[in-house]
Amino acid sequence: MEISVKTTPVTSQRAACLLLGVFERRKLSAAAQQIDKASNGYLGKIIKSGDMDGKSGQTLMLYNISGINAKRLLLIGCGKEKDFDHKQFRKVIHAANQALKNSSVRDAVSYLTDLPVKDHNLAQRVRLYVETLHHDIYKFDQLKSNNNDHPLPLNKLVLNVDTPRQLKHARLALEIGSAIAEGVKTARELGDLPGNICTPSYLAQTAQKTAKAQKKMKVKVLKQRELQALKMGAFLSVAKGSRQPPHLIVIEYNGAGKDDKPIVLVGKGITFDSGGISIKPSAAMDEMKFDMCGAASVLGTMVTLGKLQLPLNVVGIIPACENMPDGNANKPGDIVTSMSGQTIEVLNTDAEGRLILCDALTYSEQFKPKAVIDIATLTGACVIALGKHTCGLLSNNDTLAEKLIAAGKTSHDYAWQLPLWDEYQEQLKSNFADMANIGGREAGTITAACFLSRFTEKLKWAHLDIAGVAWESGNKKGATGRPVPLLSQYLLDQCGKKYKL
Ligand code: BES
Ligand code: MN
Ligand code: ZN
Repeated sequence: MEISVKTTPVTSQRAACLLLGVFERRKLSAAAQQIDKASNGYLGKIIKSGDMDGKSGQTLMLYNISGINAKRLLLIGCGKEKDFDHKQFRKVIHAANQALKNSSVRDAVSYLTDLPVKDHNLAQRVRLYVETLHHDIYKFDQLKSNNNDHPLPLNKLVLNVDTPRQLKHARLALEIGSAIAEGVKTARELGDLPGNICTPSYLAQTAQKTAKAQKKMKVKVLKQRELQALKMGAFLSVAKGSRQPPHLIVIEYNGAGKDDKPIVLVGKGITFDSGGISIKPSAAMDEMKFDMCGAASVLGTMVTLGKLQLPLNVVGIIPACENMPDGNANKPGDIVTSMSGQTIEVLNTDAEGRLILCDALTYSEQFKPKAVIDIATLTGACVIALGKHTCGLLSNNDTLAEKLIAAGKTSHDYAWQLPLWDEYQEQLKSNFADMANIGGREAGTITAACFLSRFTEKLKWAHLDIAGVAWESGNKKGATGRPVPLLSQYLLDQCGKKYKL
């Protein structure tokens, strides 16, 4: 899809189709009013006929309108003007895509970007449009034999910008939106791939390809031997139940000066989580192929970063392995020694995420980072607490937490903070080791973060539990690409005014 921004008078447009909004009840948007004038009140008549009230999501395709150059018009209902927020805007874009899908329109000019979305300036609307469009046309069908039906015949879209003065800003929005969309797509594809294809070595290869395709990016992959030399006993203990060897993937992006401290992103890369000896129930176990979505979001964010060439140093660290039951697997009661030297009693082999993350977090210390953010599908408890609307956020640094919450709001990819109080630490007591890897039934998301906090005392650190937001279940089953928008926004925010929309 080729998207561009232009200032184009609505009546002289020669495209195959123009996209125009109508508010409830029967209220033409500014661009639609202009066409109404040029066509001697034709749109007004149509609306009076009762076929287009402006109800949210309604669409009507019109042909051969006199007084304009475009071949068709697509009217899209936007609901009540006073309720027109980013959610409604997304719905409208979705409805437009749906209608275009059933047409043969290949090039269109959209005037929906001119609609007044609550709290969104033009550039922000352009970005939202681009992200939503790309999200809509994503389809994972590379493993189906019949995969040649196109999601949308449309291949050229112009987003209208009201005044030429705003073009520069709109172009930046298009660039940022496209880069984030690309990162989201990367994360979704990796997430949707099955565990027998997306293995730890597949993730490593993908990281290598990604780095090759981007400027200022390089990758290092640490194998079993090197992990042993680093004494990553917790990480290795999870991997040893699997035939797939573990990999620690380290991606470095150097967009700033040598002395600029990096931001480190650590992503949980369990390519399949069976639970291990503490095996999971069979129902929906297939969804545990998504247990590498934290890793996928790190790779996706690196893609966005590479596209935008942001003036930052960022390191992505991905511990990748499978969690499987096996004669050689971790057993409940086993005690392992982490890279930090702290010992851990593995009371439940299904609490494996924290075991691989703790060593990756310790490893991150060598980069002397200004902030470390880990992203993990860590606890089912987080899905119970927050559902699929927001990820959980826990941090040992309130400033960092605030920045992430703000980035979540800007990108509509939300994070909600939970307390990381000392009181919860007691639940991790072990009779035989420095700590247990589980903290009992209560506050599962918090005790998981408490566990990680024991490995981040020297760091400014935040943890995003994405168990609820990383994928959807049911008939829309598939990866969402979250929280690539949040992470990308956080990085953009570190770059100052130049990247502010
Ligand atoms: N990957 C799972 C968490 C998960 C479960 C995410 C369901 C999304 C949906 C994680 O490794 C896990 O199994 N966590 C356990 C921890 C428990 C044993 C303390 C859980 O949440 O049940
Ligand atoms: Mn698990
Ligand atoms: Zn897991």
